[in-house]
Amino acid sequence: MLDLSKSMSLRKVAAALFMAAGLVALSDGQGAQAQDLDMDEIFRCVPSENVDEALCGEARDLIINNCTICHAFVPIVLQQFDAQGWDGLFDRHADRSPQLTEPQITDMKKYLAANFNPSIEPPDLPQELLDLWTSY
Ligand code: HEC
Repeated sequence: MLDLSKSMSLRKVAAALFMAAGLVALSDGQGAQAQDLDMDEIFRCVPSENVDEALCGEARDLIINNCTICHAFVPIVLQQFDAQGWDGLFDRHADRSPQLTEPQITDMKKYLAANFNPSIEPPDLPQELLDLWTSY
């Protein structure tokens, strides 16, 4: 079961991260601490046969709009699943995003398997974001 109070606060964290994604400075309360996150670099689009720029763009939007409600995007880009691994993730998540259609899920799986898999190092993230990895 999901702890609702926790997921609410994580929702705020995710919102804050997306403001950071828009290159807004994150403040630590004691002084401005600029965090320039290049979301195109994080949500990269490695050239491949099956996954073109258009699919990357669509999948990125789907992920950012649907997959950051309960947790930040961090665990998604740090995973290095192969295609089967991403299938398993979406199976485990089946009840979590009921608004997604099968074709949308297929597109996200293709994008993720092509760009976040065992043969590619995860993107560099600042420590503050790495610390969120297991904060769900
Ligand atoms: C309704 C809440 C919710 C939504 C929406 C959600 N997740 Fe999750 N996610 C969780 C929880 C809770 C965990 C912690 C591990 C678990 O219980 O599966 C998690 C863990 C993860 C993990 C790391 C752990 C693992 O199982 O590999 C990944 C990767 C992930 N989610 C990807 C996604 C993607 C991709 C989407 C969008 C399709 C998504 N999540 C949407 C709740 C959610």
